[in-house]
Amino acid sequence: MSEHLRTRRGRLQTRGATGWRDWNPYRSKLAAWLRASGREWPLAPDARVLYLGAAEGTTVAHVGDLCPQGRVAAVEISPTAMAELLPVAERYRNLLPVLADAHFPARYAPQAKGCDFLYQDVAQRDQLAIFRRNWDTYRPRQGLLMLKAPGIRGGAPQAVLDEAETELRAAFATVERSDISRWAKGHAAFWVEG
Ligand SMILES: C[S@@+](CC[C@H](N)C(=O)[O-])C[C@H]1O[C@@H](n2cnc3c(N)ncnc32)[C@H](O)[C@@H]1O
Repeated sequence: MSEHLRTRRGRLQTRGATGWRDWNPYRSKLAAWLRASGREWPLAPDARVLYLGAAEGTTVAHVGDLCPQGRVAAVEISPTAMAELLPVAERYRNLLPVLADAHFPARYAPQAKGCDFLYQDVAQRDQLAIFRRNWDTYRPRQGLLMLKAPGIRGGAPQAVLDEAETELRAAFATVERSDISRWAKGHAAFWVEG
């Protein structure tokens, strides 16, 4: 367990420069995954994370709290979201915001090179292909993919997620699926190792 993570009165919290703050699983799929998987926080304080789909930085900031000696390359395609992410990143010396399309991993090599963990939450139709492409480019040790079934295609979310799991199992040595739909409708989290 990280010394920057705790549960108080049933609420998950991370500790940053300004003290402890709540980490809401309804606002962060990574917090939902921690709850659902029952795993301990997996990253070392000096982990180097490639984070795809940073949005306004809600989850990225918690990862920043938890990896104070590491770095988080936070890739986001939307300039509007990036405008909100930048002031968040200014408060963290370990967050590197990158305005880029995760379909093209080589474009953010300066920030992402040497990453040991890949986290993705992009809700695109080709979420799996984006994840594979980034994995193949940077060869991290472990990764966590947040899949949104309706983002891939219509139909029953469970069937879409089952299909995705089969595809992941063919590509990775370890795949652990966690049901986070209680916090994020239509989503599952996949922990993978190469
Ligand atoms: C569900 S939100 C991410 C929420 C965020 N991970 C959090 O927990 O705070 C998905 C984000 O992925 C971004 N996105 C979608 N396609 C992308 C792409 N190809 N490259 C980078 N970011 C992308 C969207 O602009 C959006 O901000």
